[in-house]
Amino acid sequence: MADKPTKGLADVVAASTALSDIDGQAGRLFYRGYDIHDLAGRTTFEETAHLLQHGSLPTREQLADYGAELVRGRTLGALAEANIPEIADKQAPMEALRTLVSLASGDDPDKDSNSPEANLRKAARLTAQQPILVARYHAARTGAEIPEPDPELSVAANFLLQITGRVPDPHAVEIFDTCLVLHADHTMNASTFAARVCAATLSDMHSAIVAAIGTLKGPLHGGANEQVMRTLEALDPASVAQSVRDRLAAHEKIMGFGHRVYKTEDPRATHLRRMSRELAEASGDDTYYRMSKEMEEVVFETKGLYPNVDFYAATVYHYLGIPTDLFTPVFSVSRMSGWTAHVIEQHADNRLIRPDSEYVGERDQKWKPIDER
Ligand code: CMC
Repeated sequence: MADKPTKGLADVVAASTALSDIDGQAGRLFYRGYDIHDLAGRTTFEETAHLLQHGSLPTREQLADYGAELVRGRTLGALAEANIPEIADKQAPMEALRTLVSLASGDDPDKDSNSPEANLRKAARLTAQQPILVARYHAARTGAEIPEPDPELSVAANFLLQITGRVPDPHAVEIFDTCLVLHADHTMNASTFAARVCAATLSDMHSAIVAAIGTLKGPLHGGANEQVMRTLEALDPASVAQSVRDRLAAHEKIMGFGHRVYKTEDPRATHLRRMSRELAEASGDDTYYRMSKEMEEVVFETKGLYPNVDFYAATVYHYLGIPTDLFTPVFSVSRMSGWTAHVIEQHADNRLIRPDSEYVGERDQKWKPIDER
């Protein structure tokens, strides 16, 4: 008979990885041994994606090559391209991305190969394509004309350009780029685990990413950042503390708080809180930032819970002019770099992921013909 399961696989070590590491007691996060505090604000998203997918921070030459590969990857395949209008009409953003990434595999020249070389090429294409899919989806549903991707612009700058329709100011680009760096990878989170389970059957990278997108969508995972903004929008600024206390007293979860691994502040939240404050001050209306601070104080006093990555990401994206229902898609734009790196790592040293389960159903049932049931 199987052992008792650990509910939600808490504390179960499900894979070995050289990609990222968390010290949950000390509140520290590392990508391939680099402290996130050293990377955030000093390393671009492109450098971070190279670090995850290729194993090292790039030299200038490697970065130029990888950057050019990402720019080439911004062209969408015919199948995704043709279906964007109908998908934008019928599917919500994360559903649409799940569909569009699946369609994109149809036009990927490496779709039938899991070789390390093919996987690296697909990783770059998927990373390049994701922000374009979000922007094109948004343009299709709003009917807006969007600027063509600008090959001179970074992933962060091009995304802000295409989503807001305005050339973004350098401070906004710097902040958004840091957001992308902070969200790039995070050990065995649910969507990464889903991607690795899929990849471990020797299925292909696109299939693994579709599994990951479906998993990120949920409000207990990436979907939380959108819910944080919806909560802020629904609260009366004059009674934030009381409303949060009431919700906690009613055993409601407050989105953007708590974490399975961190027992102290999530190091990503430290950067996001600062960036939210900077953008709030620059915008001339810091209401949502002040409300967030008040929520943070009350949740800590009442439950001892810290904000996670999704809490201050919400107001950062809001101040950057990103529509609320695109917050989780933004998470996927960044996490694509980590997901694809995990698929590469899984394929490089694979064994089927097939855990056991504890049977809790009926036993020794006596079968009866249908008319006697
Ligand atoms: N608000 C209120 N209470 C909470 C919260 C919260 N956000 N998070 C945890 N708790 C309470 C929970 O009710 C439970 O209390 P009790 O023991 O009295 O029943 C206790 O803390 C343990 O919670 P849990 O849900 O068993 O913890 P978990 O490790 O299974 O879940 C979590 C971790 C992140 C799913 C959870 O904290 C949560 O639901 N947070 C809100 C959603 C959220 O912000 N998700 C984003 C996670 S981080 C980034 C990402 O993955 O996107």
